[in-house]
Amino acid sequence: MRAAVLSTFDAPPVYRDHPEPVATDDNELVVEVLAAGLHHLTRAKADGSHYSGTGAFPLVPGVDGVVRDPSGQLRYVVLDDTSFGTFAERTVIDARRSVVLPEGVDPVRIAAAMNPGMSSWVALRRRVGFAPGQRVLVVGATGNAGRMAVQVAKLFGAAHVIAAGRDAARLAALSALGADETCTFDRIGRAADVDVVLDYVWGEPAADAMIPMLAARADRTAPLTWIQIGSMAGETAPVPSVALRSARLHIVGSGIGSVPARDFIAELPALAAAVTEGAIDVRARAVPLADVARAWTADTDDRIVLVP
Ligand SMILES: NC(=O)c1ccc[n+]([C@@H]2O[C@H](COP(=O)([O-])OP(=O)(O)OC[C@H]3O[C@@H](n4cnc5c(N)ncnc54)[C@H](OP(=O)(O)O)[C@@H]3O)[C@@H](O)[C@H]2O)c1
Repeated sequence: MRAAVLSTFDAPPVYRDHPEPVATDDNELVVEVLAAGLHHLTRAKADGSHYSGTGAFPLVPGVDGVVRDPSGQLRYVVLDDTSFGTFAERTVIDARRSVVLPEGVDPVRIAAAMNPGMSSWVALRRRVGFAPGQRVLVVGATGNAGRMAVQVAKLFGAAHVIAAGRDAARLAALSALGADETCTFDRIGRAADVDVVLDYVWGEPAADAMIPMLAARADRTAPLTWIQIGSMAGETAPVPSVALRSARLHIVGSGIGSVPARDFIAELPALAAAVTEGAIDVRARAVPLADVARAWTADTDDRIVLVP
């Protein structure tokens, strides 16, 4: 069969012949891959920079996707750490890490949306006791995950959602997706009274935002949960100590490990339904798997979805 295959951390995958996947226990299924997203996590595992990467070669990348199982059912699957990913005509999945999808869904749309969509969905459901009526700030709102976070927060009943980013022109588009307010990082003090921050950026912008926000807070004893989800601006952030002393700031993370796999899986059906029903706007671009090398380095705002 044909697959995208990586032989080193330093070069894009090559589309070539690869041995067929084999199921090794009763929970495993050999499935046909219909669509698989090229996410930041996919790239980070492939270049060795993600904490969950295996470091083993040859590596077929692809951390998730929409597949057809041997009984003909469509499934969305999240793979465990493996060197046999979804960027292939066929792969092997653990059925317990998948959810059955209704027939007729668009595999490309689901494959594009689930990874970025899950980030805010799981954070709000599993990392904070989020309640309708609360106020949310999304830091890094112009990306795929950030723009979905705005929509997910509204879907969950947020009273006020503020979309923050570095580019005012790109932020302007978020009002149409439900953002009540937008602001660039230099105006982040306007988001002082939120209850939850969904942070996709981290690094200097996150650290620099904390003091202006906390200083302008009407009640500094009111809890503020800062959920670290992505690190587009830096893996580390110089968080000022006074931020933790002067206000009721809780910093937590949301991702593989801080949320158990079973909790991620439990949230998948509802997110898939929201995407299928059109409750969440998705930017997807289907690309043939044969073009994986070019897609790997493409500069696009759309989430690339590889189709074998
Ligand atoms: N933990 C989880 O569960 C989970 C799940 C999915 C994704 N993630 C992580 O979330 C992050 C975002 O993913 P995505 O799919 O939204 O990526 P994306 O579509 O590429 O968007 C990247 C976002 O980061 C912003 N950004 C990039 N570099 C920046 C910088 N130096 N300073 C400030 N902002 C910067 C971009 O702003 P511009 O629009 O101005 O370029 C954009 O808003 C990634 O780190 C990803 O790994 C985590």
